Amino acid sequence: MSAAPLLGCAVDATALEQDAEYRALIASRFSVVTAENAMKFEPLRPDRETFAFAAADRLMAFAESAGLRVRGHTLVWHNQLADWVSAAPAAERRAIMADHIQAVVSRYRGRVWHWDVVNEPLDDDGEPRTSPWFEAMGIDYIAEAFRLAHEADPGATLYLNDYNVEDVCAKSDAYYELVRELIADGVPIHGFGVQGHRIVGDPPSSLRRNLSRFAALGLEVALTEVDIRIPQPPTPESLAAQADDYRGLLDAAAAVPECAAVVLWGLSDRYSWIPATFAGFGSAHVLDDDLREKPAYAAVFGSVTR
Ligand code: XIL
Repeated sequence: MSAAPLLGCAVDATALEQDAEYRALIASRFSVVTAENAMKFEPLRPDRETFAFAAADRLMAFAESAGLRVRGHTLVWHNQLADWVSAAPAAERRAIMADHIQAVVSRYRGRVWHWDVVNEPLDDDGEPRTSPWFEAMGIDYIAEAFRLAHEADPGATLYLNDYNVEDVCAKSDAYYELVRELIADGVPIHGFGVQGHRIVGDPPSSLRRNLSRFAALGLEVALTEVDIRIPQPPTPESLAAQADDYRGLLDAAAAVPECAAVVLWGLSDRYSWIPATFAGFGSAHVLDDDLREKPAYAAVFGSVTR
């Protein structure tokens, strides 16, 4: 892998269906999409017997008709996990996880470029995060999830993915050790995803070095969820700083030959998870509420080959 990273975007399934301008922008500006929510456990599994694939199917159909690759996000995570999973006896959760991975990955077999198999399994200290999966199986659930995903789609590139791992730090060190162990155990892991949710004016200082050390283990890497939030209201200065920060992330990614993709976590401030999640912040994306280009837009589209 030595081509420039492909540029992608997370898509909001409702906006994709209802906003033609948004849909056209996604189709024309990017070569990869991630479902912002539609392929997560909770929306896919209203109950143990039901698989609700309609929204995910529509996203796949859109991606295929527009010629976009899909990053599948995400199979095993502690968030947006249906309540019935934590209510189920711990002894049943291995079977629930296996069922889920088998059904979802095989449904889209051969059509998903990357799967985020396990999302955010470590906390900010690099310790295993407590979750219904960890409680039931201990840390072994990670290896098990990758084996199951590989069995269901041997052609998909399988990723571990997390936030606050842009730099060389305690958390990314813990991932580095985890990945080494998984590889030593013969687990089919192929990629490390660095999410890239950032605050303006605080760019990572060792992103390139960090990506390179994972690549040196034989993995590919990707920036999987890039957004850069700004304290509200934005100013010309903060918007310019945001453009610099986007450019810095893209340049670091482009400098690492094993970096497969840079995916933005949203295209425009019109559809953004930021204001509802981080009080006082917003304006995190490259287009504004009216889908007009912000300074960050030129920074992104000027620096990555599509
Ligand atoms: C976020 C979505 O953007 C929101 O719409 C949703 O309400 C919560 O999840 N890390 C991840 C993503 O891996 O799945 C999260 O997406 C953002 C943080």
